[in-house]
Amino acid sequence: MDNMIIVGFMGAGKTTVSRKIGHLLSREILDLDTLLEQELAESIGTIFKTKGEAYFREQEYQLLKQYHCKPSVISTGGGIVTYEPSFDLLKECKNVVYLEASFETLYNRLLSDGTQHRPLVIGQSKEKVKDLFNSRQEKYRQVATCTVVTDDLSIDEIANFLIEV
Ligand code: S3P
Repeated sequence: MDNMIIVGFMGAGKTTVSRKIGHLLSREILDLDTLLEQELAESIGTIFKTKGEAYFREQEYQLLKQYHCKPSVISTGGGIVTYEPSFDLLKECKNVVYLEASFETLYNRLLSDGTQHRPLVIGQSKEKVKDLFNSRQEKYRQVATCTVVTDDLSIDEIANFLIEV
């Protein structure tokens, strides 16, 4: 396996799992959120506030287009599947892993992880976040070539499973 792209809702563990797999396989680790923040020299929160979500999605797509073929482990932002060009490109990619978890698991992780770089969660009710999750679930499934249900798995178990498939 040359490269792997990890998708899933906020709190799915995409960043942590990609780091672990990158280390295990000695692959470069590319976190699209971090790359975007570096490229624009602004935090995700500020980008959303000053330039808007549509701008963010287009920049996220440009990064995906630039890196999707690079031998690496790529961690994407949870909303990448909502932007049609990114969705279409992901569907063409070979190794797209969906880290699936129940909404309750994700929401509890979000509460403990913090929401600073997650403007779509800040100040939102649990119901609203659940609606967002429900609206995306099918899209993650459609782009994925492999799905791992992570509710009862540790990061090591997920990573070890994924390097074998
Ligand atoms: C987003 C998820 C975030 C980040 C941005 C938007 C989303 O990434 O890209 O706040 O729309 O779900 P994580 O999934 O890494 O939290």
